[in-house]
Amino acid sequence: MKRVLVSGALGKMGSEVIKAVRQAADLEVAAGVDPRAEYDVDGVKMFTELAPAITATKPDVVVDFTQPGVVVENLKTCYELGVRAVVGTTGLTADDVEKLKRELVREDWAALIAPNFAIGAILMMRFAQEAARYFPNVEIIEYHHSQKKDAPSGTAIKTAEMINQVLTGQRETNPDEFEKLPGARGAASSAVHIHSVRLPGYVAHQEVIFSSAGQLLTIKHDSTHRESFMPGVLLAIRKIGELEGIVYGLEQIL
Ligand SMILES: NC(=O)c1ccc[n+]([C@@H]2O[C@H](COP(=O)([O-])OP(=O)(O)OC[C@H]3O[C@@H](n4cnc5c(N)ncnc54)[C@H](O)[C@@H]3O)[C@@H](O)[C@H]2O)c1
Repeated sequence: MKRVLVSGALGKMGSEVIKAVRQAADLEVAAGVDPRAEYDVDGVKMFTELAPAITATKPDVVVDFTQPGVVVENLKTCYELGVRAVVGTTGLTADDVEKLKRELVREDWAALIAPNFAIGAILMMRFAQEAARYFPNVEIIEYHHSQKKDAPSGTAIKTAEMINQVLTGQRETNPDEFEKLPGARGAASSAVHIHSVRLPGYVAHQEVIFSSAGQLLTIKHDSTHRESFMPGVLLAIRKIGELEGIVYGLEQIL
């Protein structure tokens, strides 16, 4: 039985992970960590800090769905205490991940960092990268619930990075363009503009819009419920023992 410690246990994703782990016959919840925890929840032993929780419960794997501001520190705690980690917290760019790969090197340790654990989102990114070989004009619109802290989303950043790797054709640009309101044209990840919508009612959605003369191609993915991420999270928990070092993206283990 693999024992899983859930960091960010009281959050929207953390509580969904606890539910999914409890339903899996080969996994069990070792404990939860959340600074907001005041007492044990639903039979899950709760801690307010990660390091004491790891020392006390000796989990096989930590799953982290916390906040962009704390994820690096949590990952380093897992590394120092030798516990493998599955990280879904967003806010890290490919450059951040490269830096962590150089810093956190240890033979008997691994972490999987995935900006998106939904299989549909992985396919959306792959299809977008494929389309980018033929369509140099592309913009991304991502839509999330209003409580999301980071913008643009980790998925949008990763999609833009994957597109930028293959973009070669001549893009149509307008030298006379200017913004009447700052930010109107979105954030730029190299050649790719990203627009972030934050409204209650959304979960996690993204459109990648390609165009060339006289045609538009839209690749769209919707996570309408957080259970969409759970098969990917459970797969990562089960496979983390076979990995070495820091692995970026669920697609690496599919
Ligand atoms: N990779 C994916 O597939 C995926 C999917 C959805 C959301 N996310 C990301 O997961 C993260 C969490 O999302 P959410 O919607 O659950 O947010 P949330 O705000 O509902 O939950 C975050 C929880 O982390 C807790 N927390 C804060 N600091 C902590 C610390 N130091 N240690 C332990 N817990 C701490 C908070 O108290 C809160 O309960 C975000 O970065 C979000 O973008 C990733």
